[in-house]
Amino acid sequence: MAVHRFPEGFLWGVATSAQQIEGACDEGGRGESLWDRYAKTPGNIADGSNPFTACDHYHRWREDIELMKWLGVNAYRLSIAWPRILPNGSGAPNEAGLDFYEQLVDELLAAGIKPFVTLNHWDIPQALVDAGGWPERDTVEAFVEYTDAVTRRLGDRVRAWATHNEPWCIAVQGYEEAGHAPGRKNPMEALRTAHHLLLSHGRATSVIRANAPRSEVGIVLNLAPGWPASDSPGDADAVRIHNGLFNRWYLDPLLRGTYPADAIADRVCFGQLPSPELPFVENGDMETINAPLDYLGVNYYGRSVVKAGSDGRPAGVCPVPPEELTEMGWEVFPEGLTRLLSELVQDYDIPAIYITESGAAFSDTVDDDGRIRDPLRTAFLRDHIAAASDAIKAGVPLRGYFAWTLMDNFEWQHGYKMRFGLFRVDYDSLKRTPKESAHWYRGVTAANAVEDERR
Ligand code: FCB
Repeated sequence: MAVHRFPEGFLWGVATSAQQIEGACDEGGRGESLWDRYAKTPGNIADGSNPFTACDHYHRWREDIELMKWLGVNAYRLSIAWPRILPNGSGAPNEAGLDFYEQLVDELLAAGIKPFVTLNHWDIPQALVDAGGWPERDTVEAFVEYTDAVTRRLGDRVRAWATHNEPWCIAVQGYEEAGHAPGRKNPMEALRTAHHLLLSHGRATSVIRANAPRSEVGIVLNLAPGWPASDSPGDADAVRIHNGLFNRWYLDPLLRGTYPADAIADRVCFGQLPSPELPFVENGDMETINAPLDYLGVNYYGRSVVKAGSDGRPAGVCPVPPEELTEMGWEVFPEGLTRLLSELVQDYDIPAIYITESGAAFSDTVDDDGRIRDPLRTAFLRDHIAAASDAIKAGVPLRGYFAWTLMDNFEWQHGYKMRFGLFRVDYDSLKRTPKESAHWYRGVTAANAVEDERR
């Protein structure tokens, strides 16, 4: 069997986010977040749950670092809860919030685990949403203020900063499709949100460089390569449109300083823009967004198979029988990761890439002997790691892989039904138990290698 060995210094990590694991939403001076508020409206969270206790990581973080030590990871991607630092969105930072993350970061460093910190993993203070939120340009300043407060305190210790997690999800799921908080359906608000996220990324980048000169600075995008449902020219064009709206709308401003012209034309065609002028772009914005990055964080969960829809827009197609999908209804497609990474470095000048999330939800069961046998999760991770190795061999500067996620947690609109963790969380006792996949991942981190079992 082929074995993929990884370069020396390759980072093996796990990822989480504050809103999904911390709980303690009313403690330590934390203010209300967008998702705290959203979860209070019946119907917004599929299982009627909320993030108010989640995994209680706020109290159990030391135990959680022990789990990471056991896994043998050398990096941990966490996020900071913005409302713990600026409970009302502006003003004096909440020292108790900064203290919490300082302790956590120091303890990670003592354990030999490099902190990768995301500043905005979706949990914006509700006070800022009440003032208009991401569709408003003022929110850019609020994010810069928050970034300054955090990086002043932690700038000397964090290995890598990410400004935002998955701007597409915030903009489109939050403001166009109403699947995420705040549940809006307004394409122009989504475009304004995307622009303000990108702009605030650029503005925050220079603040981080000043406060944390030795850290790497980047952003995390969710990227799904488009794939044609057939060989027809119409489906090829559907792929182009998908890639433009989903991937290049974020990549091009960040890495080339322009929005993609073909995607602007498509948006005009779909009635999302009145004309090719982008009314929210001001002088200098694109240069700010195009600030050099040290790395790009890539969250990869699968490809998008598309065909030409009757209204001219790409229509999603499910290429496999439903029983082969994960609990989220997502296809398992490791080859897409190799293709995505290779194309990224062909199309753009990217100094380094981390896979900042990769993982799958399955409905695990606890067997009578207490073990949690999750071969599908192990296979998912194994094949994606092998696909990542293929990309490295093809010359992609991939520096690390973060499994999503350390432990089962609050999966946004799905609540606690979706289990992505390497550790199972029993939500009654909050006990964490390693699944078989965690035992397996521990072997990968120890060997810095993975066996290739792809068929
Ligand atoms: C990503 C999110 C992450 C998690 C996974 C399953 O879109 O960044 O928080 O919910 O999906």
